[in-house]
Amino acid sequence: MYEKGAFATMKKEVYTSDVYTSFQNFELDNLFSREVILELGSGNGVFLVHLGRTFKDKNVIGIELDIKRAKKCYKKISREGLENTFVFSGDAKEIIPLFFPSSVVSKTFMLFPDPWPKSSTWRNRLFEISSAIMVDRISKVGATFNLVTDVEYIFSEVNELFTRVLGNWDFSNEWLFEFRKLFVPTLYYEKWLSEGRNFYWGVWIKKF
Ligand SMILES: C[S@@+](CC[C@H](N)C(=O)[O-])C[C@H]1O[C@@H](n2cnc3c(N)ncnc32)[C@H](O)[C@@H]1O
Repeated sequence: MYEKGAFATMKKEVYTSDVYTSFQNFELDNLFSREVILELGSGNGVFLVHLGRTFKDKNVIGIELDIKRAKKCYKKISREGLENTFVFSGDAKEIIPLFFPSSVVSKTFMLFPDPWPKSSTWRNRLFEISSAIMVDRISKVGATFNLVTDVEYIFSEVNELFTRVLGNWDFSNEWLFEFRKLFVPTLYYEKWLSEGRNFYWGVWIKKF
């Protein structure tokens, strides 16, 4: 877990460490002072700012590995003056264990994660067993995990991890309906749609 001092330097406009980069001025305590909505792999930020606009009474945090894309997220956040929305650039699998307290997140979104199909690159995947454990730790009871992917085996693996490996999450049709209503087309949605790919949608809810 983090120590308070670890984020002191975030007061600078831009702070870079081996683990993450941020472009915003904020205090760690403020970030987690109210319920958090998280997006893993925010890309260019279309959905992140949509979340920020929709959930004004929550803090919305995006984590994006690619710094150029994270900068695009930040530009959109600033342009809209969204004071409840933040972006980190870095690996979610490092940032979350270091800085996120337990049971603070009420919704996590992951839209079109990269597949990394070869077994030799499997560890690069954003979502595998350690990610499921990490999401479970930071999620409140009743929180949801919202996924849309063009890769069927990603959908199946996420389902397996939540419902069988962890066993304390259920697939939720009711929340899936809400996710479909909330969704706005992202860059990769448009890209894969134009190629005629199928999409697999799922929402899982934390039971206990
Ligand atoms: C296919 S893109 C989808 C982007 C966006 N969600 C969309 O729908 O347009 C996947 C994104 O996940 C990011 N990503 C991959 N691994 C990550 C990780 N470990 N931590 C944070 N972001 C990651 C990539 O940099 C990329 O921007």
